[in-house]
Amino acid sequence: MKPYILAPSIIASDFANISTELATCESAGADWIHVDVMDGHFVPTITIGPLFTEALKRNTELPLDVHLMIENPEAHVKSYAEVGATNITVHIEACRDAKKVIRQIKSLGCKAGISLKPSTSIKKIEPLLSIVDIVLVMSVKPGFSGQAFMPKMIDRVKVLRKKLDEVNPNAHLEVDGGINAKTLLQMKSAGANAFVTGNAAFKHKGGTFVGVNELKKLII
Ligand code: DX5
Ligand code: ZN
Repeated sequence: MKPYILAPSIIASDFANISTELATCESAGADWIHVDVMDGHFVPTITIGPLFTEALKRNTELPLDVHLMIENPEAHVKSYAEVGATNITVHIEACRDAKKVIRQIKSLGCKAGISLKPSTSIKKIEPLLSIVDIVLVMSVKPGFSGQAFMPKMIDRVKVLRKKLDEVNPNAHLEVDGGINAKTLLQMKSAGANAFVTGNAAFKHKGGTFVGVNELKKLII
């Protein structure tokens, strides 16, 4: 079984105090920093790009877990590898040739992940399960932090856990979207080992806020 990983999603943090936010993540036991890259095409929102990712790299020792919610990812993975991404995950819906993109990411020295929207059948990623380092299950429609968790994705994680155990037990099974103290435990029981969390980690005024420290306690 892979170790449990807590990956706070930096887009929910206060960008004006990014070094403090990163230091808080580190001291609270975060394992990765999740970096949500959105391009305004694959999803309606625009968030951050390689320049800000490079600034994150300069301000933390933690591995950067880059989640590309962008069209044409093959044209951009190199930029994120160059600024220090440890993991690069792309969306199956955005890839013309997903196997080629996975190989490209690995050849750049990064761990390669594949993600899928809640509306996409897991059949689409099955041919990739044996070659990826990470499978990232979205438990909200990608595009915004702060959305409600989709409970149907619990069964998806159970199915993928079983399939990964058969073909690639070393891969991380990561979940992203609406993960808070309650849903983290549900996804952990279903077989996920890596947990992305935005609002529950950072949004002090949000209903699900508990902080990185409390979330980390759920996986030690
Ligand atoms: C959604 C992003 C998520 C999101 C997580 O498109 O990929 O990483 O920001 O934030 P919460 O935990 O608030 O849903
Ligand atoms: Zn994400």
